[in-house]
Amino acid sequence: MGIETLTIRRPDDWHLHLRDGDMLRAVLASSASQYGRAMVMPNLKPPVTTAGAALAYRERIREALPIDSGFTPMMTCYLCDATDPAEIRAGFNCGAFAAAKLYPAGATTHSEYGVTSVERIGGVLATMQEIGMPLLIHGESTDPVVDVFDREAAFLRSTLALILTRYPRLKVVLEHITTEEAADLVLRDESGRLAATITPQHLMFNRNAMFAGGIRPHYYCLPVLKRERHRRALRRAATSGSPAFFLGTDSAPHETGAKESACGCAGIFSAPVALQAYLTVFEEEQALSRFEAFASENGARFYGVPFNQGTLTFQRTPTRVTGDVELADGRRIRTFLGGETLPWTLA
Ligand code: NCD
Ligand code: ZN
Repeated sequence: MGIETLTIRRPDDWHLHLRDGDMLRAVLASSASQYGRAMVMPNLKPPVTTAGAALAYRERIREALPIDSGFTPMMTCYLCDATDPAEIRAGFNCGAFAAAKLYPAGATTHSEYGVTSVERIGGVLATMQEIGMPLLIHGESTDPVVDVFDREAAFLRSTLALILTRYPRLKVVLEHITTEEAADLVLRDESGRLAATITPQHLMFNRNAMFAGGIRPHYYCLPVLKRERHRRALRRAATSGSPAFFLGTDSAPHETGAKESACGCAGIFSAPVALQAYLTVFEEEQALSRFEAFASENGARFYGVPFNQGTLTFQRTPTRVTGDVELADGRRIRTFLGGETLPWTLA
């Protein structure tokens, strides 16, 4: 029998969608009660493209937090073809932006204002390299002839290779990696300027989960789940002890009706249960001793922020994951793994 309790330093979620308005108010507590900080994604409608918009959004998040919450939202800038390098510099220098997010236009949910070609943001990337501002990348090719399951690997060979060569000192996080190719690329990097986040769903499931007995929209996210070989490679990478991999849930709430639809949208709402899900994976890989670094240290070190104070304790008590979170107007959001039982409980 293994250990019965596990205490770790308070973790951070380095990739989180909090949305806005009623949705923000419904989902925020799940993250704020568990994590010290989160890197908040900017793909609102309209997206967060200016320092002013980031500060206003941060204020709305703070207003929705419980009074005594120690949670710190870190804001990101949504890059567009027209993003002004001066706005990036000013926003980073005043603390409005912690990083900038590159969505290839059309790659994912609310990415229609994204970047159509890296050539268009050359000045922005040069500025970010100069000021030490990290670039967070949704790494999927948008070339319509590229198969949906090959889009990440294609992006690495084309766009990412170009960015890494052209900006050799730019700090880059490959967000929510899903392939062996991405894991290997990050593992092989020796410069320390390249890192990756990994979601719980990509560690737990391969693409069969989307088609088990019928089409399962609650397993649909982008980048899409891949084949088993990739899941195994991601599990090896996350539990390898390499400091280049850290926790980023990509928790992405959508109301149930928008997912259970003829054209269901991408995104899995994992915030309430992600930590226990990751922990289960680390235990299965016999790497419990490496969980704290993945969850609470590697990201902070990469971003150059102090480790969180305080701890979280998990107990080996099987718990059933609660099903839905309800919005103020009665609409619901399905939680990842809702109704299933996980071996660990957050004490
Ligand atoms: C995200 C969302 O819904 O905002 N969806 C997703 O499937 N991951 C966008 C993203 O991170 O790609
Ligand atoms: Zn995301």
